[in-house]
Amino acid sequence: MSLTVPTTAPFSGAQKMWLKGYLDALNSALMPPAAVEAVPAITGNGVPVTILWGSQTGNSEALGKKLVKVLGAKGHSPTLRDMAGVAPADLAAAERVLIITSTYGDGEPPDNAAALHAALHSADAPSLTGVSFSVLALGDSGYPDFCKCGRDFQNRMAELGAEILVPIIECDVDYDEPFARWSRLLEESLDVSAVA
Ligand SMILES: Cc1cc2nc3c(=O)[nH]c(=O)nc-3n(C[C@H](O)[C@H](O)[C@H](O)COP(=O)(O)O)c2cc1C
Repeated sequence: MSLTVPTTAPFSGAQKMWLKGYLDALNSALMPPAAVEAVPAITGNGVPVTILWGSQTGNSEALGKKLVKVLGAKGHSPTLRDMAGVAPADLAAAERVLIITSTYGDGEPPDNAAALHAALHSADAPSLTGVSFSVLALGDSGYPDFCKCGRDFQNRMAELGAEILVPIIECDVDYDEPFARWSRLLEESLDVSAVA
């Protein structure tokens, strides 16, 4: 069970927003993080794909591990990386990058995505020409800055010259169905880029 603000609560919109943030933080502190098993990189002759996760409470990380299995089963060669260990130069050197990230706080990146997010937005971020990418953004439209971190990555990487493989998909609380849709679109576009 999680704590929520009743719609009939006698508070203003701003007060309800503040209370929602407070209760969400409390709920996520009380809930154990999603169980996430380690998944090794799948090496083979398939299309090499780097999957990056930015996650505060484990949802995006768990989806990253699921995506490794989905793409590996289709013959691709996915590698999963925690964004905390990734620099813009690593992105510039990768051919295909898939980003799964939540938004936390007031429209902020999750802790493990903050350094990469900041470095990519700095004036000396490298060109990403030649990189193709896609973003799955986890969020909650109850917050004013819905999916802001995912949107930031999508906009900034395109600005730096990267090509959009599949346009951003934004998840509003539920992420299972949008994740399945995103995976299908990715499979199709990776199959096309494999024969191109
Ligand atoms: C304290 C808190 C703050 C949040 N702030 C935002 C926000 O500003 N914008 C948004 O779209 N979602 C926000 N969310 C929703 C999360 O992005 C969503 O729960 C997501 O599934 C978390 O994924 P993760 O476990 O990978 O971090 C917030 C959630 C919490 C608990």
